[in-house]
Amino acid sequence: MNSGSPLAEPWVEKYRPRTLSEVVGNEAVLERLRCIAKEGNLPNVLFVGAPGVGKTTVALALANDMLGPELAREAVLELNASDDRGIDVVRNTIKMFAQKRVSLPAGRHKLIILDEADSMTSSAQQALRRTMEIYSSTTRFALAANMSSKIIEPIQSRCAVIRFRRLSEQEVSQRLLQVFAQERVPYDAAGLETVVFTAEGDMRQALNNAQATYHGFGMVSAENVLRVCDTPPPVALKRFLEACERRQLDAAVAELQTLWRNGYAPIDIVGTLFRIAKQHAMVVEGGERGRDLRLEFMREIGLTHLRIAEGASSLLQLTALAARLVQHADALQREKARA
Ligand SMILES: Nc1ncnc2c1ncn2[C@@H]1O[C@H](COP(=O)(O)OP(=O)(O)OP(=O)(O)O)[C@@H](O)[C@H]1O
Ligand SMILES: [Mg+2]
Repeated sequence: MNSGSPLAEPWVEKYRPRTLSEVVGNEAVLERLRCIAKEGNLPNVLFVGAPGVGKTTVALALANDMLGPELAREAVLELNASDDRGIDVVRNTIKMFAQKRVSLPAGRHKLIILDEADSMTSSAQQALRRTMEIYSSTTRFALAANMSSKIIEPIQSRCAVIRFRRLSEQEVSQRLLQVFAQERVPYDAAGLETVVFTAEGDMRQALNNAQATYHGFGMVSAENVLRVCDTPPPVALKRFLEACERRQLDAAVAELQTLWRNGYAPIDIVGTLFRIAKQHAMVVEGGERGRDLRLEFMREIGLTHLRIAEGASSLLQLTALAARLVQHADALQREKARA
C-alpha cells in the first residue's frame, strides 16, 4: 500500500502551486500580482502574514509567471533562512547578483527573493537599503516575513507592503478536496472538517495533518485526525458549552476532567474552547438574550485564557470557568422567569 510509505513526497511540496493561477485565497492581492506578472514592472514588495498562507509560494510563482521558467533560472536569486544572510551576503552575493548582466524583455527585472526576511540581522537590513536603491533599474526585491515589525522601517518604506490573511475554511477545504481526489484518500465529512478546524487557516498545517493522518491510519476521519494533531476533541468542548448553557455544572466539569485526564494542556483546551464558542455565538438561537449569553461566554473564556497564559495552568482555572459560565446561564434563566 503506497499510503504507508514513509518516503512518500510531502504533499506541501508536491502540491505547492507553481503558477499564480493555482494559488487560493487572498484574491485581491493575487489579482494585482497576476496583473504585474503579465505586464512587468514589479515594485519592491514585502509579503507579510501568518505561516503557511502562501507567501513563499507566491514569490516563487510570481518569478515563474513573470519571467518564464527559462529566464527565472538565470534572473532570480532566492535566499531563505537556511542561507547565511548576514551583512556579508548583502555585500557580496546580493550585490554580485544585482550587478550581473542578464538580457531581459522590456519591463522585466531581475528578482531577488529574500524569504523569511524577519530573520535577517538588522545590520544586514541596513546594508540592503542602499543596494535596493542603487540597482533599482535592473533588480527588484520580494521579501517575505511573518511580522512586519521585524523589518526595519526604511526597508518597509521602499516596498509595497502586501498582507496575506489566513485562508478561509472554505478555501482550505476546497484545496484539500483536490489533493484527496488526486491521492485517492478515503475521508469522511467530519474528518475533512476536523483537518480544516485544526489548521486554523494555515494551508501547510492542513496538508501536513491530512497527510500524517492518511499515512498513519489510511483514512481521514475526525477521530484519526485528532489522534494525529493532539487537539482537544471539539465535540467534547461543544458538549461542555451546551452543559453550561443548560446549567448542568456536574456534566460540564466531568467533560473537563476527562480532557484533563487524557493529558490535554489547559492552554489548548481553552484555546479550542474559544474557537468553538465563537462559532457557536454566530448561530443565533434563543433570540437576543441567547446571543448575549454566548457573548458573555466568550468574554469569560477569553479572561480564563489570559490567566492560563500568564501561568495559572490548572484544572482549577478551568473548573472556575465552568462555574462562571453556569452562573451566567443561571442569571439569564432568572431574568426570563421574571419577565
Ligand atoms: N494560498 C495557497 N494556495 C495553495 N496552497 C498553499 C497556499 N498557501 C500555502 N499553500 C501550501 O502550503 C505550503 C506552504 O506554503 P508557503 O511555503 O507558501 O507558506 P508561507 O506563507 O511562506 O509560510 P512561512 O511564513 O512559514 O514561510 C505550500 O507548499 C503549499 O503546498
Ligand atoms: Mg515561507
